[in-house]
Amino acid sequence: MKRVLPVLIALFVASTASAQAPGGSAAAPTPTNAPMAVPAADPGAGSAAQAGSAAPGSGSATNGNNQATSGSAAGSGAGSASAAAPKGPALKAWYDVQADKTVEEDGTFWMPKSVNLAADDSDMMFYAVLALSAFFFIAIAIAVVYLTVKYRHRPGHTAEPSAAHNDVLEITWTVIPTIICVFLFWYGWHSYIKVVTPPQKAVEIDVLAWRWNWQFTHENGVTDSDLHVPAGVPVRLVMTSKDVLHSFYVPAFRVKQDVVPRRYTYIWFDATKPGTYRLTCAEYCGTSHAQMACLDTDPVSGHCNRRAVVVVHKDLEEYQRYLNDKIQDQLNMAPEDLGKMLYDKKGCSSCHTIDGSTRVGPSWKSPDWGKDIAIVGGTVKMDENYVRESILYPAKKARPGYPNSMPSFEGQLKDKELTGLIAYIKSLKQ
Ligand code: CUA
Repeated sequence: MKRVLPVLIALFVASTASAQAPGGSAAAPTPTNAPMAVPAADPGAGSAAQAGSAAPGSGSATNGNNQATSGSAAGSGAGSASAAAPKGPALKAWYDVQADKTVEEDGTFWMPKSVNLAADDSDMMFYAVLALSAFFFIAIAIAVVYLTVKYRHRPGHTAEPSAAHNDVLEITWTVIPTIICVFLFWYGWHSYIKVVTPPQKAVEIDVLAWRWNWQFTHENGVTDSDLHVPAGVPVRLVMTSKDVLHSFYVPAFRVKQDVVPRRYTYIWFDATKPGTYRLTCAEYCGTSHAQMACLDTDPVSGHCNRRAVVVVHKDLEEYQRYLNDKIQDQLNMAPEDLGKMLYDKKGCSSCHTIDGSTRVGPSWKSPDWGKDIAIVGGTVKMDENYVRESILYPAKKARPGYPNSMPSFEGQLKDKELTGLIAYIKSLKQ
């Protein structure tokens, strides 16, 4: 018996220690951020484009040219074959290059490192509760094994009567858990208040969610599908939804908040480390929930090559530069290029392909431009006016065979953007 206990304790210690050591045996094969850091849908996204040869048919998009500039020529047709094919008319903007970076999450056995000053307490809480639970679990398990062996039935022993009452014992097992619970409550309350109370001075960004994309609107009117924020400055998000419940979730920030139609919800954070972080929808919102905020859908496989991310800029100055450059770039684009950019950025790509195949809605590549097409209860000529109306009031002239589920973009696209989208769709006609 005496020899069993040390062995048991050693086993417990060994198993917890190996799980805790980052890069210990549990995490050894991939100590940095290999498979866990990148969503499963992304394998080869970046490398295929760089290697050129990996993706069949990608040759034309990458051949000869600087890969950042090669996309536009092959853009509408073959460009899609290379996974991370550039979308802009020229070199990709510096802020989009940052957004394209591999998501920076540690990929350890534990949670990704918190980079939100406002939520450090919640990590502390999590680990405190975990440690307490582990301590009591181990202590009780050892006691059970020890007492079972010690008081087992054997010849020559008779059962002893158990005590009916013991003041010292009962006070101890009441007072100690009470102190622990009060501490946990106090600490939890304290950090909860901190998490839900943004400071007076915060950068405010509007968030609009719909099936299936996010739109972030900054103070100067810049809109983007990636969330760009400065580091070291409190940021407050004012969020609402166009259609159903979504949930805004950034694991590295420890923030998750439902986004609700017809009302506003808020979160705030204070990012401590510049980088690119994962951003997801954490509320089932329909067929393409898992593809929500996919900014580059592979037209062949339907896999997502890149999702929306949070880009934390190193300071307010760089964030300001993003705001200025982005608005300039949006103003200066050729209509067709603007439309092509919006196709991904506004989430059109979750439902419409550009290669003629059907996803949720009709493909944008259509031989029917200028011809009559069937709509529910009649026909209509497919031209600029029809496309414009279908973007602003999709339900008006629905196409048979497709779900009438597209959200309206009325009030959310500037005229220039509408013109761009129409020009892009027109450019795809065969
Ligand atoms: Cu949006 Cu799930």
